[in-house]
Amino acid sequence: MKSMKYSVIKQLGMWLFALASVLPALATGVIVPGAEWLDNDGMFINAHGGGVLYHEGVYYWYGEAKGDYTYRSPGVGWDCYRTDAGGVACYSSRDLCNWKYEGIVLEPDTLHTFSDIHPTMVIERPKVIYNATTHQFVMWMHIDNHNYEKAVAGVAVCDTPNGKFRFIESGRPNGQMSRDMTLFKDDDQKAYLFYSSENNTTIHIAMLSDDYRHVTSNYTRQFIGESREAPAVFKRGGKYYIITSGCTGWDPNEAEWAVADNVMGPYTTMGNPCQGLHADKTFYSQSTFVIPIEGTDKYIMMFDRWNKKDLITSRYVWLPIHFDGDTMTIPWLDSWAL
Ligand code: DGJ
Repeated sequence: MKSMKYSVIKQLGMWLFALASVLPALATGVIVPGAEWLDNDGMFINAHGGGVLYHEGVYYWYGEAKGDYTYRSPGVGWDCYRTDAGGVACYSSRDLCNWKYEGIVLEPDTLHTFSDIHPTMVIERPKVIYNATTHQFVMWMHIDNHNYEKAVAGVAVCDTPNGKFRFIESGRPNGQMSRDMTLFKDDDQKAYLFYSSENNTTIHIAMLSDDYRHVTSNYTRQFIGESREAPAVFKRGGKYYIITSGCTGWDPNEAEWAVADNVMGPYTTMGNPCQGLHADKTFYSQSTFVIPIEGTDKYIMMFDRWNKKDLITSRYVWLPIHFDGDTMTIPWLDSWAL
Protein backbone atom coordinates (compact mmCIF):
# COMPACT_ATOMS: atom_id res chain seq x y z
CA MET A 1 0.00 0.00 0.00
CA LYS A 2 2.77 2.35 1.08
CA SER A 3 4.84 1.55 -2.01
CA MET A 4 1.79 2.02 -4.25
CA LYS A 5 1.22 5.49 -2.77
CA TYR A 6 4.88 6.26 -3.23
CA SER A 7 4.78 5.18 -6.86
CA VAL A 8 1.70 7.35 -7.55
CA ILE A 9 3.39 10.38 -5.97
CA LYS A 10 6.59 9.64 -7.87
CA GLN A 11 4.69 9.32 -11.15
CA LEU A 12 2.89 12.62 -10.56
CA GLY A 13 6.19 14.28 -9.73
CA MET A 14 7.73 12.94 -12.94
CA TRP A 15 4.66 14.17 -14.81
CA LEU A 16 5.14 17.70 -13.57
CA PHE A 17 8.88 17.61 -14.13
CA ALA A 18 8.59 16.29 -17.68
CA LEU A 19 6.01 18.89 -18.61
CA ALA A 20 7.88 21.74 -17.01
CA SER A 21 11.04 20.83 -18.87
CA VAL A 22 9.52 20.02 -22.26
CA LEU A 23 6.99 22.81 -22.34
CA PRO A 24 8.24 25.68 -20.19
CA ALA A 25 5.24 27.81 -21.12
CA LEU A 26 3.06 25.39 -19.21
CA ALA A 27 4.96 25.59 -15.95
CA THR A 28 2.59 28.15 -14.48
CA GLY A 29 -0.60 26.69 -15.91
CA VAL A 30 -2.98 25.26 -13.34
CA ILE A 31 -6.07 23.26 -14.21
CA VAL A 32 -8.92 23.03 -11.75
CA PRO A 33 -11.14 20.15 -12.88
CA GLY A 34 -14.80 21.14 -12.91
CA ALA A 35 -14.16 24.86 -12.35
CA GLU A 36 -15.47 27.61 -14.62
CA TRP A 37 -13.04 27.92 -17.52
CA LEU A 38 -12.76 31.25 -19.30
CA ASP A 39 -11.15 31.94 -22.66
CA ASN A 40 -8.61 34.72 -23.25
CA ASP A 41 -11.46 37.22 -23.66
CA GLY A 42 -12.97 36.30 -20.29
CA MET A 43 -15.88 34.38 -21.84
CA PHE A 44 -16.93 30.87 -20.73
CA ILE A 45 -15.52 28.22 -23.03
CA ASN A 46 -18.43 26.70 -24.96
CA ALA A 47 -16.94 23.55 -26.55
CA HIS A 48 -18.65 20.47 -25.11
CA GLY A 49 -18.24 16.81 -26.05
CA GLY A 50 -15.10 17.96 -27.76
CA GLY A 51 -11.70 16.84 -28.92
CA VAL A 52 -8.28 18.42 -29.43
CA LEU A 53 -6.10 18.41 -32.53
CA TYR A 54 -2.40 19.31 -32.38
CA HIS A 55 -1.16 20.96 -35.55
CA GLU A 56 2.09 22.86 -36.14
CA GLY A 57 2.69 23.88 -32.53
CA VAL A 58 -0.93 24.76 -31.75
CA TYR A 59 -3.67 22.79 -29.99
CA TYR A 60 -7.18 23.26 -31.41
CA TRP A 61 -10.12 22.42 -29.17
CA TYR A 62 -13.32 21.70 -31.11
CA GLY A 63 -16.62 21.19 -29.31
CA GLU A 64 -20.36 21.59 -29.33
CA ALA A 65 -21.45 25.22 -29.11
CA LYS A 66 -24.50 24.92 -26.87
CA GLY A 67 -27.29 27.47 -27.21
CA ASP A 68 -28.30 29.74 -24.30
CA TYR A 69 -31.63 28.07 -23.71
CA THR A 70 -32.05 24.42 -22.63
CA TYR A 71 -35.42 22.75 -23.13
CA ARG A 72 -36.87 19.27 -23.24
CA SER A 73 -37.35 17.97 -26.74
CA PRO A 74 -41.08 18.17 -27.42
CA GLY A 75 -42.89 14.84 -27.62
CA VAL A 76 -39.90 12.76 -26.46
CA GLY A 77 -40.60 10.43 -23.52
CA TRP A 78 -37.12 10.22 -22.00
CA ASP A 79 -35.02 12.91 -20.30
CA CYS A 80 -34.14 14.50 -23.65
CA TYR A 81 -32.73 17.91 -22.74
CA ARG A 82 -31.21 19.91 -25.56
CA THR A 83 -30.40 23.35 -26.84
CA ASP A 84 -30.67 24.49 -30.42
CA ALA A 85 -27.57 23.27 -32.24
CA GLY A 86 -25.08 26.13 -32.26
CA GLY A 87 -22.57 24.40 -34.54
CA VAL A 88 -18.99 23.58 -33.68
CA ALA A 89 -16.80 26.03 -31.77
CA CYS A 90 -13.01 26.14 -31.98
CA TYR A 91 -10.44 27.47 -29.49
CA SER A 92 -6.67 27.51 -29.93
CA SER A 93 -3.82 27.31 -27.44
CA ARG A 94 -0.09 26.71 -27.27
CA ASP A 95 -0.12 25.64 -23.63
CA LEU A 96 -3.45 23.79 -23.22
CA CYS A 97 -4.38 26.21 -20.46
CA ASN A 98 -4.99 29.58 -22.12
CA TRP A 99 -7.49 29.37 -24.96
CA LYS A 100 -8.25 31.88 -27.70
CA TYR A 101 -11.71 31.76 -29.24
CA GLU A 102 -11.42 31.10 -32.99
CA GLY A 103 -15.15 31.24 -33.64
CA ILE A 104 -17.82 28.84 -34.84
CA VAL A 105 -15.98 26.79 -37.43
CA LEU A 106 -19.03 24.78 -38.45
CA GLU A 107 -21.99 27.15 -38.62
CA PRO A 108 -25.50 25.75 -38.23
CA ASP A 109 -27.54 26.09 -41.43
CA THR A 110 -30.40 28.35 -40.39
CA LEU A 111 -31.77 28.69 -43.93
CA HIS A 112 -32.64 25.11 -44.83
CA THR A 113 -35.18 23.48 -42.51
CA PHE A 114 -34.24 19.98 -43.68
CA SER A 115 -30.49 20.47 -43.34
CA ASP A 116 -28.61 18.04 -41.09
CA ILE A 117 -27.06 21.02 -39.35
CA HIS A 118 -30.21 23.11 -38.90
CA PRO A 119 -30.47 24.41 -35.30
CA THR A 120 -33.37 22.02 -34.63
CA MET A 121 -30.98 19.09 -35.19
CA VAL A 122 -28.38 17.64 -32.84
CA ILE A 123 -24.67 18.24 -33.58
CA GLU A 124 -22.55 16.45 -30.98
CA ARG A 125 -19.03 15.18 -30.22
CA PRO A 126 -17.15 16.81 -33.14
CA LYS A 127 -13.60 15.55 -33.71
CA VAL A 128 -11.06 16.76 -36.29
CA ILE A 129 -8.04 15.05 -37.86
CA TYR A 130 -5.60 16.31 -40.46
CA ASN A 131 -5.05 14.47 -43.73
CA ALA A 132 -1.42 14.96 -44.75
CA THR A 133 -2.10 13.80 -48.33
CA THR A 134 -5.12 15.96 -49.17
CA HIS A 135 -3.99 18.73 -46.77
CA GLN A 136 -7.54 18.90 -45.45
CA PHE A 137 -8.84 19.05 -41.92
CA VAL A 138 -11.64 16.51 -41.68
CA MET A 139 -14.33 16.78 -39.02
CA TRP A 140 -16.67 13.96 -38.05
CA MET A 141 -19.58 14.42 -35.67
CA HIS A 142 -22.76 12.84 -34.38
CA ILE A 143 -25.76 14.22 -36.24
CA ASP A 144 -29.26 13.50 -35.05
CA ASN A 145 -32.77 14.83 -35.10
CA HIS A 146 -34.53 16.23 -32.03
CA ASN A 147 -35.39 12.75 -30.66
CA TYR A 148 -32.05 11.06 -31.48
CA GLU A 149 -33.66 8.56 -33.84
CA LYS A 150 -31.78 9.48 -37.01
CA ALA A 151 -28.44 8.25 -35.55
CA VAL A 152 -25.99 9.23 -38.31
CA ALA A 153 -22.38 10.39 -38.62
CA GLY A 154 -21.68 13.69 -40.39
CA VAL A 155 -18.52 14.88 -42.11
CA ALA A 156 -17.20 18.36 -42.90
CA VAL A 157 -13.90 19.62 -44.32
CA CYS A 158 -11.73 22.72 -44.29
CA ASP A 159 -8.32 23.74 -45.66
CA THR A 160 -7.29 25.31 -42.35
CA PRO A 161 -7.82 24.20 -38.76
CA ASN A 162 -9.68 27.35 -37.75
CA GLY A 163 -11.47 28.26 -40.98
CA LYS A 164 -15.10 27.66 -41.91
CA PHE A 165 -15.73 23.95 -42.35
CA ARG A 166 -17.98 22.86 -45.23
CA PHE A 167 -20.55 20.24 -44.29
CA ILE A 168 -20.53 17.45 -46.85
CA GLU A 169 -22.96 14.73 -45.86
CA SER A 170 -24.21 12.42 -43.17
CA GLY A 171 -25.06 8.75 -43.17
CA ARG A 172 -25.16 5.48 -41.30
CA PRO A 173 -21.74 3.83 -41.63
CA ASN A 174 -22.24 0.57 -43.50
CA GLY A 175 -25.97 1.02 -42.92
CA GLN A 176 -25.49 0.90 -39.12
CA MET A 177 -26.67 3.44 -36.55
CA SER A 178 -24.07 5.90 -35.28
CA ARG A 179 -24.36 8.15 -32.22
CA ASP A 180 -21.52 9.02 -29.78
CA MET A 181 -18.26 8.89 -31.70
CA THR A 182 -14.60 9.72 -31.86
CA LEU A 183 -11.81 9.65 -34.42
CA PHE A 184 -8.41 8.07 -34.07
CA LYS A 185 -5.50 8.52 -36.49
CA ASP A 186 -2.79 5.90 -36.24
CA ASP A 187 0.96 6.33 -36.84
CA ASP A 188 0.60 4.80 -40.33
CA GLN A 189 -1.87 7.64 -41.17
CA LYS A 190 -4.84 5.26 -41.33
CA ALA A 191 -7.81 6.70 -39.47
CA TYR A 192 -10.77 5.12 -37.71
CA LEU A 193 -14.26 6.11 -36.63
CA PHE A 194 -15.35 4.65 -33.28
CA TYR A 195 -19.10 4.97 -32.74
CA SER A 196 -21.93 3.67 -30.59
CA SER A 197 -24.03 1.57 -32.90
CA GLU A 198 -26.86 -0.96 -32.86
CA ASN A 199 -28.98 1.42 -30.78
CA ASN A 200 -26.03 2.15 -28.46
CA THR A 201 -25.57 -1.50 -27.49
CA THR A 202 -22.33 -2.12 -29.39
CA ILE A 203 -19.30 -0.03 -30.39
CA HIS A 204 -18.25 -0.24 -34.03
CA ILE A 205 -14.80 0.65 -35.30
CA ALA A 206 -14.68 1.47 -39.00
CA MET A 207 -11.54 2.21 -41.00
CA LEU A 208 -11.87 5.46 -42.96
CA SER A 209 -11.01 5.91 -46.64
CA ASP A 210 -7.59 7.38 -47.41
CA ASP A 211 -9.09 10.88 -47.65
CA TYR A 212 -10.86 10.37 -44.27
CA ARG A 213 -14.16 11.51 -45.81
CA HIS A 214 -15.89 8.11 -45.93
CA VAL A 215 -16.04 4.92 -43.93
CA THR A 216 -14.85 1.74 -45.61
CA SER A 217 -16.59 -1.61 -45.34
CA ASN A 218 -13.77 -2.72 -43.04
CA TYR A 219 -15.26 -2.55 -39.55
CA THR A 220 -15.45 -4.58 -36.34
CA ARG A 221 -17.99 -4.87 -33.51
CA GLN A 222 -16.65 -4.46 -29.97
CA PHE A 223 -18.22 -4.51 -26.50
CA ILE A 224 -21.14 -6.40 -28.02
CA GLY A 225 -24.34 -5.84 -26.07
CA GLU A 226 -22.50 -3.89 -23.34
CA SER A 227 -24.15 -0.49 -24.03
CA ARG A 228 -21.11 1.79 -23.99
CA GLU A 229 -20.88 5.34 -25.33
CA ALA A 230 -18.66 8.47 -25.18
CA PRO A 231 -15.58 6.68 -26.61
CA ALA A 232 -12.13 8.28 -26.16
CA VAL A 233 -9.18 6.52 -27.79
CA PHE A 234 -5.41 6.85 -27.66
CA LYS A 235 -2.28 4.82 -28.36
CA ARG A 236 0.64 4.34 -26.01
CA GLY A 237 3.58 1.99 -26.26
CA GLY A 238 2.03 0.14 -29.21
CA LYS A 239 -1.22 -0.54 -27.34
CA TYR A 240 -4.63 0.99 -28.05
CA TYR A 241 -6.67 2.28 -25.14
CA ILE A 242 -10.35 3.16 -25.08
CA ILE A 243 -12.32 4.81 -22.29
CA THR A 244 -16.13 4.73 -22.48
CA SER A 245 -19.14 5.53 -20.34
CA GLY A 246 -22.35 3.63 -19.80
CA CYS A 247 -25.59 4.85 -21.40
CA THR A 248 -27.56 6.98 -18.92
CA GLY A 249 -28.34 10.08 -21.00
CA TRP A 250 -26.82 13.22 -19.47
CA ASP A 251 -26.48 11.56 -16.05
CA PRO A 252 -23.08 10.27 -14.94
CA ASN A 253 -22.21 6.61 -14.52
CA GLU A 254 -19.08 4.49 -14.10
CA ALA A 255 -16.37 4.75 -16.76
CA GLU A 256 -14.54 1.74 -18.11
CA TRP A 257 -11.22 1.31 -19.89
CA ALA A 258 -10.14 -1.40 -22.26
CA VAL A 259 -6.95 -2.19 -24.13
CA ALA A 260 -5.99 -3.94 -27.38
CA ASP A 261 -2.94 -4.82 -29.44
CA ASN A 262 -4.80 -3.99 -32.64
CA VAL A 263 -6.74 -0.77 -33.24
CA MET A 264 -9.79 -2.68 -34.43
CA GLY A 265 -9.70 -5.02 -31.45
CA PRO A 266 -10.38 -7.33 -29.79
CA TYR A 267 -10.40 -5.06 -26.71
CA THR A 268 -9.99 -6.47 -23.21
CA THR A 269 -12.13 -4.70 -20.62
CA MET A 270 -10.11 -3.67 -17.56
CA GLY A 271 -12.58 -1.89 -15.26
CA ASN A 272 -13.03 1.63 -13.94
CA PRO A 273 -9.90 3.80 -14.37
CA CYS A 274 -11.18 6.54 -12.03
CA GLN A 275 -9.96 6.72 -8.44
CA GLY A 276 -11.01 8.88 -5.50
CA LEU A 277 -14.21 10.62 -4.46
CA HIS A 278 -17.12 9.89 -6.83
CA ALA A 279 -14.98 7.62 -8.99
CA ASP A 280 -18.06 5.42 -9.42
CA LYS A 281 -19.74 8.37 -11.19
CA THR A 282 -16.66 9.38 -13.20
CA PHE A 283 -16.35 12.45 -10.90
CA TYR A 284 -19.87 13.43 -12.08
CA SER A 285 -18.69 13.63 -15.67
CA GLN A 286 -18.38 11.66 -18.91
CA SER A 287 -15.47 10.87 -21.21
CA THR A 288 -14.96 12.72 -24.47
CA PHE A 289 -11.28 12.65 -25.55
CA VAL A 290 -7.69 11.94 -24.56
CA ILE A 291 -5.08 14.56 -25.46
CA PRO A 292 -1.57 13.20 -26.04
CA ILE A 293 0.79 16.02 -24.99
CA GLU A 294 3.11 16.61 -27.90
CA GLY A 295 6.70 15.52 -27.33
CA THR A 296 5.95 13.67 -24.09
CA ASP A 297 4.52 10.36 -22.91
CA LYS A 298 1.77 12.24 -21.07
CA TYR A 299 -1.96 12.14 -21.70
CA ILE A 300 -4.84 14.29 -20.49
CA MET A 301 -8.28 12.78 -20.02
CA MET A 302 -11.03 15.18 -21.05
CA PHE A 303 -14.43 14.67 -19.41
CA ASP A 304 -17.63 16.74 -19.62
CA ARG A 305 -19.56 17.49 -16.45
CA TRP A 306 -23.01 17.94 -17.93
CA ASN A 307 -25.59 20.28 -16.46
CA LYS A 308 -28.54 18.80 -18.28
CA LYS A 309 -31.01 21.53 -17.33
CA ASP A 310 -28.68 24.31 -18.48
CA LEU A 311 -26.35 22.59 -20.91
CA ILE A 312 -24.29 25.65 -21.83
CA THR A 313 -23.03 25.85 -18.24
CA SER A 314 -21.68 22.27 -18.33
CA ARG A 315 -18.09 22.19 -17.08
CA TYR A 316 -14.88 20.47 -18.15
CA VAL A 317 -13.02 17.96 -16.02
CA TRP A 318 -9.47 17.46 -17.29
CA LEU A 319 -7.16 15.10 -15.41
CA PRO A 320 -3.75 13.54 -16.10
CA ILE A 321 -3.74 9.82 -16.84
CA HIS A 322 -1.43 7.82 -14.59
CA PHE A 323 0.34 4.68 -15.83
CA ASP A 324 1.80 1.76 -13.95
CA GLY A 325 3.27 -0.27 -16.81
CA ASP A 326 0.36 -0.72 -19.21
CA THR A 327 -2.26 -0.14 -16.52
CA MET A 328 -3.98 3.23 -16.56
CA THR A 329 -5.72 5.03 -13.73
CA ILE A 330 -7.23 8.49 -13.44
CA PRO A 331 -6.93 9.69 -9.83
CA TRP A 332 -9.03 12.70 -8.82
CA LEU A 333 -7.07 15.91 -8.24
CA ASP A 334 -8.60 19.16 -6.93
CA SER A 335 -6.11 21.02 -9.10
CA TRP A 336 -2.92 20.19 -10.95
CA ALA A 337 -0.18 22.01 -12.79
CA LEU A 338 0.54 21.64 -16.45
C1 DGJ B 1 -25.27 10.74 -23.83
C2 DGJ B 1 -24.25 11.17 -24.84
O1 DGJ B 1 -22.99 10.74 -24.41
C3 DGJ B 1 -24.27 12.66 -25.02
O2 DGJ B 1 -23.33 13.03 -25.98
C4 DGJ B 1 -25.66 13.08 -25.43
O3 DGJ B 1 -25.98 12.49 -26.66
C5 DGJ B 1 -26.66 12.62 -24.39
N1 DGJ B 1 -26.57 11.18 -24.22
C6 DGJ B 1 -28.08 12.98 -24.75
O4 DGJ B 1 -28.96 12.53 -23.77
